[in-house]
Amino acid sequence: MMRTNRTFTMLKPDAVEANYIGAILEKITAAGFRIVSLKMTQMTKNDAETFYAVHNERPFFGELVEFMTRGPIVAAILEKENAVNDFRALIGATNPANAAEGTLRKLFAKSMSENAVHGSDSDENAAIEGAFHFAGSEQF
Ligand code: RTP
Ligand code: MG
Repeated sequence: MMRTNRTFTMLKPDAVEANYIGAILEKITAAGFRIVSLKMTQMTKNDAETFYAVHNERPFFGELVEFMTRGPIVAAILEKENAVNDFRALIGATNPANAAEGTLRKLFAKSMSENAVHGSDSDENAAIEGAFHFAGSEQF
């Protein structure tokens, strides 16, 4: 059965480099999300190509893979009612220039390509992406 109350996030390399891990996790938990799984890890090229396979025909794909693998990320599964939609609202628009006041990308993102935080775009992808990074025994 599909869980509809979970989403998956990554604090991207730009956010980790800027030392924003604690500040972003504080905003996430203050917004009512419970941390189900959490780790710091570095994606390989193959990991990033697989994770973002949906974008492999896009002109920015090479740049995206290069960026997502250049340093560690923080991966997490989050739980809350309406998790996917509420988390997309919390992170804000892909381009921080268009992100609403108070959103994570408004607060922490540098640019369209270095935008600090990933959030799953559907329940189905949340389940796929969570399972990509965490075994069942790592989900609490
Ligand atoms: P994400 O998947 O990371 O949560 O971001 P998103 O849904 O808001 O945006 P999406 O369309 O899925 O794009 C994935 C990531 O690719 C980079 N991107 N760069 N240079 C560009 O035009 C461009 N467009 C997208 C961003 O890092 C975006 O978050
Ligand atoms: Mg996306």
